[in-house]
Amino acid sequence: MCGIIGYVGYRNTIPVLIQGLEQLEYRGYDSAGIACLSHKEDNLFIVKEKGKLSALKEKIGDFDVDAHIGIGHTRWATHGEPSRANAHPHTDATGRIALVHNGIVENYAVLKMAMQKKRIRFESQTDTEVAAKLIGTYYHKKTSLFDAVKQAIDELHGFFSFVLFSKDDPDTLVAYKRSNPLVVGLGQGENFLASDVTALLPYTRQVIYLEDDDLVTLTSKSVSIYSLKTRSWVKRRPTMVHWNVSQAQKQGYPHFMLKEMYEQPEVLRNILSKRLTKKGDIYFDTVNKKFHNQLKRVKQVHMVSCGTAYHAGLVGAIAIEKFAHISCRTQVSSEFRYGNPILGKDDLVVLITQSGETADTLAALREAKAKGAKTLAVVNVVGSTIAREADAVIYTHAGPEIGVASTKAYTAQLATLLLLVFSMAKMRNKISKEDFHLMVKAFKRIPEYCARILREGKSFERCARKHSSRRNFLYLGRGCNYPTALEGALKLKEISYAHAHGYAAGEMKHGPIALIDHEQPVICIAPESSTYDKMISNIQEIRARDGIVIAIGSEGNKDLEKMSDSFFSIPKAPEILSPMLTVIPLQFFAYRMAVLNGRDVDQPRNLAKSVTVE
Ligand code: G6P
Repeated sequence: MCGIIGYVGYRNTIPVLIQGLEQLEYRGYDSAGIACLSHKEDNLFIVKEKGKLSALKEKIGDFDVDAHIGIGHTRWATHGEPSRANAHPHTDATGRIALVHNGIVENYAVLKMAMQKKRIRFESQTDTEVAAKLIGTYYHKKTSLFDAVKQAIDELHGFFSFVLFSKDDPDTLVAYKRSNPLVVGLGQGENFLASDVTALLPYTRQVIYLEDDDLVTLTSKSVSIYSLKTRSWVKRRPTMVHWNVSQAQKQGYPHFMLKEMYEQPEVLRNILSKRLTKKGDIYFDTVNKKFHNQLKRVKQVHMVSCGTAYHAGLVGAIAIEKFAHISCRTQVSSEFRYGNPILGKDDLVVLITQSGETADTLAALREAKAKGAKTLAVVNVVGSTIAREADAVIYTHAGPEIGVASTKAYTAQLATLLLLVFSMAKMRNKISKEDFHLMVKAFKRIPEYCARILREGKSFERCARKHSSRRNFLYLGRGCNYPTALEGALKLKEISYAHAHGYAAGEMKHGPIALIDHEQPVICIAPESSTYDKMISNIQEIRARDGIVIAIGSEGNKDLEKMSDSFFSIPKAPEILSPMLTVIPLQFFAYRMAVLNGRDVDQPRNLAKSVTVE
């Protein structure tokens, strides 16, 4: 989704904006632009280009603009095609204000028509330009930019964040946040604004997460925040970000996705060291006693999330029913929020999200809170909106994930949810002491097992080469590895653009079996499990129809190996922990398929890392 960077301070602005936009590239975009104020000529310097940042950089070329204030934007098209005209920044009718925007102005068409009647001309199809022009109509000699935004906001419907400045005031950025995230970066003699902290990491780790309806004036030396909600000036406490720049860099890997896949053992080790006490108990530092007690009384759990996080929720739901004996529903956020869910004080809604900003998951959280349910966020990005708004939060500590296709954030979600389940099972006396300790012991081996699978990189490469030209894949799994089949299929279509469908293996005979012939690869996830024999029957059915079997099974399973055209082994682990292992060959397979097909692995077409619109 769109990325925003704003700067005011002593540095030359253009390199700061470009570096900020480079850090935001991972969010997914189709055009980019910058605006800054030339110190000497008192001119707005605006450059925009369709396509990648390299095109924008080429256009900026060697322009020597001495500017100390500016804004930059990567656009993910919503209103109007990706084009130079539709790229941000946009200006008001007099060309004095430049504005970038993230989100959607829902009533833009009505506002546009009203302004067109007043002979205001538009150059783009965007809702953003409507906001810029509208703010311009309030910006007169006696009105500051801050007041103009304050007045215009009342007329704008939707969810959006803006950052803007005027050529009349070379030391002031103004920003407004509603729903879409905005973070202030605090510096010495300089200040920053960005849609997410990764853009700020090269300069500062002291940040302020803005809240909804915050209207901000940022100069090189000051930050003033006015809340339109409370109609008062407010102080927001700065937060220290613990991520560092190198975590958000490729460090020699050809792609962020590959780097993040290899980081999984370390991420899992880190989670266990944070969550397990010396005595082998499970501990969540951010869950207070009151919420802990509420967890004991919960009668129904709902796992709510989108994309990859939804698949983690499916595993969590299976585990919570099996080990904590609590009934659990899993839904994608966009269905949950409009499904009029029946919720009350005995319900626990678990919102799972890497970014903590996904619009549908945020709306689901608000819906759950409004209905009186307890809400628990399982989030990666510290301080994100969902983390702040939920009754309690558990962080997944995966570090920054830059590749659009989620890998380490997924295994971190799985580990965190499973630890939550075991801790709930224990607090509700549904698991014996012995079983609990056996599970914790087995859990501690998972990081090393994960590393062992990653060392097999070459064999995934061979398999991907064999199938790289195929366009249709079927993924089958059962029980807690049915979500693995869904996740494997999602990874493949996200980054290689091949069609892939994840299915519960038992459902194959109700439809997908019609697809099976000698050209159909079927990826079968069949580690040792309570449904292993059933999986084998399904594999036999595929073989009987000449289908191509690519199997993931437990180490040493020679029978399965013989039955398969390609076989990947994973170390033996308790069934419920196995999704943290079985997914790794599938991530690898998708990655290699994408590379072999020349795809843009880290920024696949049309996708965004953080989906902040509905
Ligand atoms: C997008 C991303 C996925 C992610 C999903 C949910 O579609 O491309 O990788 O799983 O959003 O995002 P969240 O931040 O809520 O986990």
